[in-house]
Amino acid sequence: MKKPVKNNVYWVGKTDWELKNFHGKEYSTHRGSTYNSYLLLEEKVALIDTVWSPYAKEFVQNLAGEIDLKKIDFIIANHAEPDHSGALPELMKLIPDTPIYCTVNGVKSLKGHYHQDWNFHPIKTGDKISLGNKDLIFVEAPMLHWPDSMFCYLTGDNILFSNDAFGQHYATEFLFNDLVDQAELWGECIKYYANILTPFSTQVTKKIQEFVGLQLPLEMICTSHGVIWRDHPLQIVEKYQQWASNYQENQITIIYDTMWDGTRTLAKQIAGGIQLAGPLITVKIHNSAKFDKNDIITDVFRSKGMAIGSPTINHGVLHSIAGLMEEIRGLGFKNKKAAAFGCYGWSGEAVGMINRGLTEAGFEVVDDGLKALWNPDETAQHDGVVYGRKLAGRI
Ligand code: FEO
Repeated sequence: MKKPVKNNVYWVGKTDWELKNFHGKEYSTHRGSTYNSYLLLEEKVALIDTVWSPYAKEFVQNLAGEIDLKKIDFIIANHAEPDHSGALPELMKLIPDTPIYCTVNGVKSLKGHYHQDWNFHPIKTGDKISLGNKDLIFVEAPMLHWPDSMFCYLTGDNILFSNDAFGQHYATEFLFNDLVDQAELWGECIKYYANILTPFSTQVTKKIQEFVGLQLPLEMICTSHGVIWRDHPLQIVEKYQQWASNYQENQITIIYDTMWDGTRTLAKQIAGGIQLAGPLITVKIHNSAKFDKNDIITDVFRSKGMAIGSPTINHGVLHSIAGLMEEIRGLGFKNKKAAAFGCYGWSGEAVGMINRGLTEAGFEVVDDGLKALWNPDETAQHDGVVYGRKLAGRI
């Protein structure tokens, strides 16, 4: 059943309570997600985005219960990833000639996914369609977060339909930001930014400046995941501006994997040393083999710096550390410092490898690293504390 958003705008999406992973296993969704689709019942009728393909039949059936599908004048595909376009094949079987408005890259991507030559209408920023008394104005938003992404803006109601931007993977029975648990909401927002938008921070800043320059009144932001921002919608825009500007809190994150507890012991000693250096520094410790990858990355995003530890195995590092470092490299964090540590029994290459990986990932490596032979004895444990204090000073 459609849910009212504002005036003639309705939510017709899907709340996916059971989703635990997104993008394959690339993104953990502890709180599920939503695929937000919007039906605009103006003089002309527009549908903005659809839902993920497993819910296509359910979506089309529900939509047909709300409106004669043939009365849909325009379909807007703000983004071609299948979590938003996945119901198009099912829908277009029934209304094959309905125009689909999307970017030029959107056409390429939708054709690439579905191999259909639908009635595409590629748009450019500033193009608009009239719904009668109100217009939908299109704004290209490349790399927020795919090359095909775009926003659209409904005049009169002053709503920005922002697709992935400003969203969260957060299933809730409530539609609006002021009705949900704020700690949960903001936790999901920063996780989403850290894990998805970090590489595109430059584009985020520019797009926000461009949108502000248009001087359009903004009363609501309808995202395609999670809640709709109706209470002070600019608060999430302001957060994005902060997050896009080399964001840091007074935090250091320690990440390690371990074989026989030696590197774990070092991690704890380093954490103790950091805390001795300043009680106001937040220290987070994550075992990369056991903890959620996306939660770890969110903590890296929050931090001024990090320490990464692995014992040496087969002249290298443990695979959970190798995998995580590859993720971190791809995200392109800026203005962060780091250091390495780890135990070894024979050759001891892990610390050097981590240092090289950190440099490649754009971190400033602030020390040659801390190595301990075998399991750390009392002296080596004390060295861990001293090393923690030193890192706190340098980070
Ligand atoms: Fe929510 Fe980029 O898809």
